[in-house]
Amino acid sequence: MTLFNPKDFYTRFLKGHEGKLHFAAHSHHFWPDITREAQLQYWDDCAHLSDEKWGKIFGEVIGKTQKHIADILKLKHPEQIVLAPNTHELSTRLLSLFLGKKELKILTSTNEFLSWRRQFLRLTEIPEIQIHQVDSTYFPHDRKAYLDNLKIELKNNYDLIFISQVFFDSGTALTDAELKDLLDHTPEATLFVLDGYHGFAALPTNLAPFEGRLFYLGGGYKYAQGGEGVGFMVVPKGDWRPAYTGWFAEQAQISKKPDVKVGYASDAMAFMGATQDPSGFYRFNAVWDLFFSHNITIEAIHAYVLNLQLLFLKELPISFIQSWSLKPLFSPDLLWHGHFLTFEADSLEDAQKCQEILHKHHILIDRRGNRLRFGFGLYQNESDVSQLCRSLKNLAN
Ligand SMILES: Cc1ncc(COP(=O)(O)O)c(C=O)c1O
Repeated sequence: MTLFNPKDFYTRFLKGHEGKLHFAAHSHHFWPDITREAQLQYWDDCAHLSDEKWGKIFGEVIGKTQKHIADILKLKHPEQIVLAPNTHELSTRLLSLFLGKKELKILTSTNEFLSWRRQFLRLTEIPEIQIHQVDSTYFPHDRKAYLDNLKIELKNNYDLIFISQVFFDSGTALTDAELKDLLDHTPEATLFVLDGYHGFAALPTNLAPFEGRLFYLGGGYKYAQGGEGVGFMVVPKGDWRPAYTGWFAEQAQISKKPDVKVGYASDAMAFMGATQDPSGFYRFNAVWDLFFSHNITIEAIHAYVLNLQLLFLKELPISFIQSWSLKPLFSPDLLWHGHFLTFEADSLEDAQKCQEILHKHHILIDRRGNRLRFGFGLYQNESDVSQLCRSLKNLAN
């Protein structure tokens, strides 16, 4: 059942993709039209205020971004949310807390997002750093084995654990109960970091029970619909002194003589870097001002997307699946799953070929290795899904 008709919010992106079926909302979500006005507002603020625009940005714009993120995640302390151009900057800043330590032990999984994977692979070249990857390959089919292995490993006093809320290469998601169980098994001294990029603004996530314990990373260019430039991290309260630090981490310092000791803000701003393009904050704020004013909550968005996903599974022609020998990486009830559905092909070549053929017929999906991902979002409706399934039927060998 459709509770609202959201396509009207996306007229410009829909026009830009006329004649195409864009089912890659998980990769690049369309932006609501209002983001264009927000971008222009940023330009106008620059023109009217020049250097003084930073007063507005720090005094008003960033506060609103933090508040929207806190509301989406049901957090009480927006000041414990730090912003950056991307999440990679924030995770490396987090790692810099340990710079100079004789030994660093990190626990992670085998299926983390590409930039984190690349980063920790590079770190394994440093003899003082030990990284243990728990096998999460079979998590889509066997949740227990992965979670049990994590819990066993957690006994080994790691400095940091870094895992995904929703895996980028399958869409499989940790439930709140599973997260709580993992946190209950985590020693006090271990920093717990959850990569929430594919969960944020998609799955109704309540971080309130974990506030003050969990580092949570997310950003703006997927389900948050504001585009690039809005990486964020939820930070537990503490006297954080990351070694990789920029002048934004100590706002008050600008008019003072430099101190001998580097000072840090007492909230999440301690993790700030330096000058960044703030226009993403304007776009992000405009989207969530709009949605919240229409009572379009994450729960409502999730229900809308779930309805499209279930319709897709109902109408998906078996001939298409069989002709490409695709294996679904999700359980058909989609009880708690990300907003994209992943199918594994037998080989990279098969997956590439399948994606190319779909692309040639104006069906836009994406791929990670031999895994094809179909993503669903607010700018599609039931008739788009039915049309997608009819086209897939025609394309089956
Ligand atoms: C799980 C996950 N984390 C993070 C990111 C983005 O990271 P960054 O903001 O560092 O570019 C993505 C992007 O696709 C992702 O899928």
